[in-house]
Amino acid sequence: MSNIKACIFDLDGVIVDTAVYHYKAWKRLANELGFDFTEEANEKLKGISRKESLELILGWGGIEKQEPERDNLAHRKNSWYVEMISEMTPAEILPGAKEFLSNLKEAGYLIALGSASKNAGIILTKVGLNDYFDAIVDGNIITASKPDPQVFLKGAEMLGVDSSECVVFEDAIAGVEAAKAGGMKVVGIGSSENLPGADLVIAGLHEMNMEQLEKL
Ligand code: BG6
Ligand code: MG
Repeated sequence: MSNIKACIFDLDGVIVDTAVYHYKAWKRLANELGFDFTEEANEKLKGISRKESLELILGWGGIEKQEPERDNLAHRKNSWYVEMISEMTPAEILPGAKEFLSNLKEAGYLIALGSASKNAGIILTKVGLNDYFDAIVDGNIITASKPDPQVFLKGAEMLGVDSSECVVFEDAIAGVEAAKAGGMKVVGIGSSENLPGADLVIAGLHEMNMEQLEKL
């Protein structure tokens, strides 16, 4: 019998397709600075903080910027991103996500959010999923970014469960590493090539069910 009591979900790219909005906004910033980056490079930005993303992108463009200019650039990217997410509706919940959350609730599992985003609250409200979460850990609370396990350990602590009783759902390599570093099981959302180390990889939550969860 499975000892799993709780599920911790990343937000961007797992529950909603905001990974695309992050990509668009960073790409716009890079283009304005005179360079571009590929979708493959974008994989490295998934799961990491806004500040660290900017550092990586500036490095790819071979551009050096100091504060307060860096802060201005991160702010510009975020304002475009917030413009996009402000228009979000429940239709943008990824296939199967709401159904899986409902099934978990019904079966008595605890549910937490474990996101690096400072915008997680706005997104959950826009898509109407707040009520599913027993605990919310986001970029406003944490001090160390994925692959540090802090975001997930904090989630387990808030739910009152042990790490070994949690399964994390993640689309980012940094997030898979964070979950593993925290001693948790992890289901990767995406492709196995991008997510080595996950206990199971599925294309999306529409492919997840209770049976698979209990087998982890
Ligand atoms: C993560 C995304 O969920 O949040 C990253 O995968 C993003 O791409 C990070 O950089 C921080 O998001 P925000 O909304 O605080 O800029
Ligand atoms: Mg993500």
